[in-house]
Amino acid sequence: MSNGEPLFQRVAIIGLGLIGGSLASAIRRNSLAREVVGADTRKDDLLLGQSLGIIDTVAETTAEAVQGADLVVLAVPVQATRKVLEEIRPHLAADAILTDVGSTKSGFVKDVEAVFGEFPPRIIPGHPIAGSERSGIRAANPDLFANHKVILTPPDNVSHSHLDRLRALWEACGATVLTMSVAYHDEVLAATSHLPHLIAFSLVDTLAGEDENMDIFRYAAGGFRDFTRIAASDPVMWHDIFLSNRDAVLRVIDHFTHDLDQLRTAIADQDGATLLRVFSRAKAAREHFSKMLSGQAYVTNNSENQVTFRLQPGGKVIGDIRVPGDKSISHRSIMLGALAEGITEVKGFLEGEDSLATIQAFRDMGVTIEGPDDGFVRIHGVGMHGLQAPRGPIYLGNSGTGMRLFSGLLAAQSFESELTGDASLSVRPMNRVADPLRSMGAVIDTAEGGRPPLKIRGSQGKQLKGIHYDMPIASAQVKSCLLLAGLYADGTTSVTEPAPTRDHTERMLTGFGYKVERDGSTVSLSGGGKLTASCIDVPADISSAAFFLVAASIAPGSDLTLRHVGMNPTRVGVISILRQMGADIEVSAEREIGGEPVADLRVRSAELKGINIPEDQVPLAIDEFPALFIAATCATGRTVLSGAEELRVKESDRIQVMADGLATLGVETEVMADGIVIEGGQTIKGGSVQSHGDHRIAMSFAVASLRATGEIEVNDCANVATSFPGFVEIARGTGINISAETSEAVVDQGAK
Ligand code: S3P
Repeated sequence: MSNGEPLFQRVAIIGLGLIGGSLASAIRRNSLAREVVGADTRKDDLLLGQSLGIIDTVAETTAEAVQGADLVVLAVPVQATRKVLEEIRPHLAADAILTDVGSTKSGFVKDVEAVFGEFPPRIIPGHPIAGSERSGIRAANPDLFANHKVILTPPDNVSHSHLDRLRALWEACGATVLTMSVAYHDEVLAATSHLPHLIAFSLVDTLAGEDENMDIFRYAAGGFRDFTRIAASDPVMWHDIFLSNRDAVLRVIDHFTHDLDQLRTAIADQDGATLLRVFSRAKAAREHFSKMLSGQAYVTNNSENQVTFRLQPGGKVIGDIRVPGDKSISHRSIMLGALAEGITEVKGFLEGEDSLATIQAFRDMGVTIEGPDDGFVRIHGVGMHGLQAPRGPIYLGNSGTGMRLFSGLLAAQSFESELTGDASLSVRPMNRVADPLRSMGAVIDTAEGGRPPLKIRGSQGKQLKGIHYDMPIASAQVKSCLLLAGLYADGTTSVTEPAPTRDHTERMLTGFGYKVERDGSTVSLSGGGKLTASCIDVPADISSAAFFLVAASIAPGSDLTLRHVGMNPTRVGVISILRQMGADIEVSAEREIGGEPVADLRVRSAELKGINIPEDQVPLAIDEFPALFIAATCATGRTVLSGAEELRVKESDRIQVMADGLATLGVETEVMADGIVIEGGQTIKGGSVQSHGDHRIAMSFAVASLRATGEIEVNDCANVATSFPGFVEIARGTGINISAETSEAVVDQGAK
């Protein structure tokens, strides 16, 4: 609306059922049109609509309703569409927008083409994903669309001004508007809406026909009620929907029938393993469905929670905490557990989105995984050759580690697979793994520039061959990828690293009984062996602990103990660097748990000084630099980091993004191609910083607040959940003045 003018002059709603009536009353309540006119074959409903204040004007005919209307909404059963279009066509104003609210879109498009002889740019098919099992004008509710999605499927030549106005109307009714193609809409709706309705109708009908039907209904408890609520929906509307979305619905029914049949067989054969596998996969998918379905359904990238951190300046950090489990070790525990023979139990597993994506990927490949339940996971290993082809692309979210390690493992399987990820992962370099895998004989396609998705053709009966690889960059992910492929390769696979990188894969392989040799900077193994299930106790992640090591160091008066922190020598760069800067970190209770060193750390505030960070420490602290940059800002003197160009291809360009964020807070830095120079002692002011969806950037700026002079807002923090679920609560518990605000952000997806 501009200048107090409503969006539309006259809106004609043809069909005053639940959806038409609700839209009419939402338009009236929000003053979105001067006049709302209704037309319906049920005259009583029209009059009722007028007396209830749902419409302004009753039209005797559809033709009369559309005359002079600048928006016409068809809200009739989809099978009635063609007839109504024929009636209204001669009376439509030249510039009127025509839309509908039907559940299937290809039928509407066909009807429009039949009646208009083309698809005019001002006709915009629509579908509000909202409803109720109640039907009719009496159920009309102006709030029906609030916080619901509306899908528009505009033609390619759509008039953008019309599209914008229609979008504005739905948004003013509280809805979130997405656009997608007609075909995609119908496929997705067949699966997510039409099939569940069909099953609900069918189940209730079957049970109602049983001899004991009264008893069945009498004793039916919550499960039956929840599951069959939608069987009370309008039969005419649904009969129309199934007839009009025939092909897509048949495809999904066939798929479902096949899977149901498999469950039947499993029950008949007393095959508990299959039941457990399917049920636990479904439970997990249900719990994480918006993330996990990404790449497969219309929720893809559409709707992610936007999380903003708000931090009040100052404070000190006190307490005794255990941060969540190590991300690298958590990924590997699932991978090796799945390939092992026997049952692997994992304690302290990181329930972050990255490692949960790894669990889901193995479930998609037929592995039964129980949990995670408070960090406890039980994996029913399927052996080296027991993975099954996944049914669709494997979605790995934000996880570079997942994608690189999976590429090695999947290159050696007999089936084809595809690895996808979120926006950040989709621009990360994958040739670093694809190239050496290709020289082992793997067939892998990447998108342009070696980016995801990765299409892995599978071994197609040909075994990979072992190679020696001199890694040009120090990368544990590349090394681990090749070692995983090497498990299946003919002969020996060896990797030489230019500098030591984390060695969790080697340690864990040894723990699972697989022989791994190390000779100086070269690690090697021979293919064809087997893994034996093991028990894993995942230490707390030193990369997550790092934020608190820095926090307690920079905030005067701090004294914090961190328990059970992983102290693998290939990961402790952050401690060495902080100590060189003068940090007061005490290490105690050093022990080894399941092949990984662990200790408790006590850190107290200290006067930090700037240093030249030794380049040999870079791979050992690769994930901790964003936090270390905050330490450097609070130190006296200059800190110089070089030899760290890898930081530019992490979840974000961590050199530039940190420099930008610091600049926003009034801290000047000098950015170099492979590092940064930070003059310590500058004042950190308040301001609004962008994390670019990078979890470690978000947490680093949260820590910076301890020494800031004003409020800091950090945007785009949802991905903190990839590595550190519960960060806000733990941080607040230690004394960081942090709160998180969540809102739903919706971006149109590229399915069109
Ligand atoms: C990881 C290795 C590192 C690290 C990443 C996790 C791993 O990446 O940055 O967060 O689990 O192997 P590179 O090996 O590419 O440096």
